Amino acid sequence: MKKISIITLFPEFVQRYSEFGIIARAIQKRLVKFTAIDMRKFGLDKRKTVDDRPYGGGLGMVLRPDVVVKAIQKTSKVSSQASRRRDRGSSRIILLTPQGKPFNQAHAKRLTKYDNLIFVSGRYEGFDERVRKFVDEELSIGDYVLMGGELPALVISEAVLRLVPGVLGKDESADSESFSDNLLEYPQYTKPEVFEINSKKLRVPKVLLTGHHANVAKWRKEESEKRTKKRRPDLLA
Ligand code: ADE
Repeated sequence: MKKISIITLFPEFVQRYSEFGIIARAIQKRLVKFTAIDMRKFGLDKRKTVDDRPYGGGLGMVLRPDVVVKAIQKTSKVSSQASRRRDRGSSRIILLTPQGKPFNQAHAKRLTKYDNLIFVSGRYEGFDERVRKFVDEELSIGDYVLMGGELPALVISEAVLRLVPGVLGKDESADSESFSDNLLEYPQYTKPEVFEINSKKLRVPKVLLTGHHANVAKWRKEESEKRTKKRRPDLLA
């Protein structure tokens, strides 16, 4: 069984999200153990302080390295004890920031190989730089700034879990979809065969109605390539 731990100042939010969709299903099937770790528990003093003002001045607050690293160390110790392999070789500690490598489907596939994924999500202005020495990698989910790493950690968890064997049902496939071979998905159609609207008739492409599997496959491949070339030429490069 895999283990996903998310270190966060909003454990209730992360926990609640895991009660829905693919994460909930993976938990129910005992394919993953999912835990939200409250970073506040590692805060200092009576007030459980986790952040402070930046040295050198400036707006906002910065998460303290002592607090964040304590949370990471405690979490990685517990995770590796829980996993059958005690060597910790199969753990990955991932920091979520807009400065990380852009996350994509290849990263998702790679991350399925680890037994323990530990996500570190911050809030406010960011992490003290020294935190970076204690993580294995840093990922971003896109070139925009969110208020924290919780959604990115959940996005990545979902993308990884749906690739874990057994998580998707037998009628669902993880590989005939967009990005599985660096192509966007082909156009899909269902009933009705003729969709009449605004005095127009929108028809399903004929080839899909023929039952000729080889022709359908060929059409889909071509449409995938056309669509990728037009919308995401960067994927073909
Ligand atoms: N934290 C804030 N914005 C983020 C982003 N785009 N990706 C990952 N973590 C973030």
